[in-house]
Amino acid sequence: MNGRIPQHFIDELLQRADIVEIIGSRVPLKKAGREYKACCPFHGEKTPSFTVSPTKGFYHCFGCGAHGTALGFLMEYDRLEFIAAVEELATRLGLEVPREGAGQAQSPLAPVYDALAAAAAFFEKSLRTHPSAVDYLRSRGLDGETARTFRVGYAPPAWDSLLREFEDTDAERTRLAAAGLIVAREGGGYYDRFRDRIMFPIRDSRGRVIGFGGRVIGSGEPKYLNSPETAVFHKGQELYGLYEARQAERRLTRLLVVEGYMDVVSLGQHGICDAVATLGTATTPDQVRRLFRAVPEIVFCFDGDRAGRAAAWRALQASLPEVREGRQVRFLFLPDGEDPDSLVRKEGAKAFATRADAAVPLSDYLLEELQRQVGSDSLDARARLAELARPLVAMLPPGVYRELLTDRLSEAVGLRRERLTAALGTPSGSNAPAPARRPRPVPGQRPSLVRQAITLLVHHPELGRTVTVPPGLDTVRTRGTALLAELLELTRSTPGLTPGALVERFRERPEGPHLAELLAGQVLVGEAGAARELADSLQRIVAQARDERLAELVSKAASASLSTEEKDEFRRLQKEAAGIR
Ligand code: UTP
Ligand code: MN
Repeated sequence: MNGRIPQHFIDELLQRADIVEIIGSRVPLKKAGREYKACCPFHGEKTPSFTVSPTKGFYHCFGCGAHGTALGFLMEYDRLEFIAAVEELATRLGLEVPREGAGQAQSPLAPVYDALAAAAAFFEKSLRTHPSAVDYLRSRGLDGETARTFRVGYAPPAWDSLLREFEDTDAERTRLAAAGLIVAREGGGYYDRFRDRIMFPIRDSRGRVIGFGGRVIGSGEPKYLNSPETAVFHKGQELYGLYEARQAERRLTRLLVVEGYMDVVSLGQHGICDAVATLGTATTPDQVRRLFRAVPEIVFCFDGDRAGRAAAWRALQASLPEVREGRQVRFLFLPDGEDPDSLVRKEGAKAFATRADAAVPLSDYLLEELQRQVGSDSLDARARLAELARPLVAMLPPGVYRELLTDRLSEAVGLRRERLTAALGTPSGSNAPAPARRPRPVPGQRPSLVRQAITLLVHHPELGRTVTVPPGLDTVRTRGTALLAELLELTRSTPGLTPGALVERFRERPEGPHLAELLAGQVLVGEAGAARELADSLQRIVAQARDERLAELVSKAASASLSTEEKDEFRRLQKEAAGIR
């Protein structure tokens, strides 16, 4: 096991790497002022909203919100894992990647990922030594190349085939159990979860195996056995085939969501490489969000039978909060008794693609379905339609899309739009807020001082070395001050930290996206102005906290007597307030 890459090396890489050159060698960039622009490589667009800032060492797309450093770009665009992206950058700069002492500070989940990777390799190997399993796959029309692309494998029939692949120690068995690969026996001991099954490894966005789906050979129950939820596998968030789709097609424009593992694999074999599957559960809003991060269009593909219709309706509900201008959701219903696997084998890829291209837009499907539910076209039925639509429209984010759907509904219901809007009880019409691409601060409500200070530091990390930190800042407990203190310490002790490198340090932290968002925004003051503003914000944070505490003590004193410590504190704070301002 390799040791960790020291943080200072990653800072240095990002400081020395030319982000314009790295992105520019993959995407044609045009200079625009101090920045560079292009059509975003991560979503389809015709006017450029992708900008690269050499001073920040950061890219940002105002259309889809994609952003990151040179490392982040290599990970997204070249689909590299973090380590590989670091190595790629280092090679370009002619640097050797240093490693800290082996194994130390390793992620606690690393052993689980390692176990899953080893299991996937074992299942692949086992497929080659079990001709009956290969025969089964052949009987289903699967070719070897596709099996390799999806790393399809086989779990042998014995109760301990996998167990015997690993060391015979308690530590090892704990690790395998944590990975969901073995199951504890009532009376002690363990057995393999997957036996005599075709194995489909499920990979995360970085390509790491996080779980498996296992299909019985022939018939048997359950037909598919999936990995249980583990620390690295969350069914409701993952999509089978997403990693493979991104590998196959650099510029995905849409994703086809199907129901089964075999559907994804079979479509892939026929050259339809943009299919993914939910993992035996209803589509979740989390999954829809992930899909829209990858593409602007989703096509849900379901059986035309009752169960398929019910699943489609749930998918529609999961999608509503995520649809807006520039995003499309469509529905494709297959003929009775067919699934994508059977259909593509019967009709071929071209006919299947034609069906997908003709899928029904979400708004059409929604109206058709509601009309079907209310039945006739009586006045009564129309009223019920408006009633049924109400909670659905309310799930849409305000904006153009909601407006359009309300228009369509008013047509269907035969009510003037204003009346319908009133009946729907949703804010609409000309007063509705425009679809904001990025959250904007509410006018009249200034960003908090802490937020302002953090923003300035993120844009100008070098200020951390020169700014005077007022005494008392460490005792302030308002929201965000812990992060601010951490950033002040980090920037003070790390000369040469670029804005991009600073944000990169928070890659695995919950604060990471927030900091990236701040860096993606504009700071309107120059360097000297920023220094003054930062010093001023820090002073005011301390002053504000002191004023609040003073007010608290005053109001307490009005109803009860203060303790000796409180009196001392009051005098001290008053003196400080008088002294500093
Ligand atoms: P289907 O029953 O439609 O199977 O389940 P399929 O995909 O057509 O499979 P083949 O073609 O018979 O091999 C669709 C999906 O539902 C989940 C699986 O994710 C499966 O791919 N499922 C199904 C389970 O999780 N468990 C089951 O027992 C059955
Ligand atoms: Mn099938």
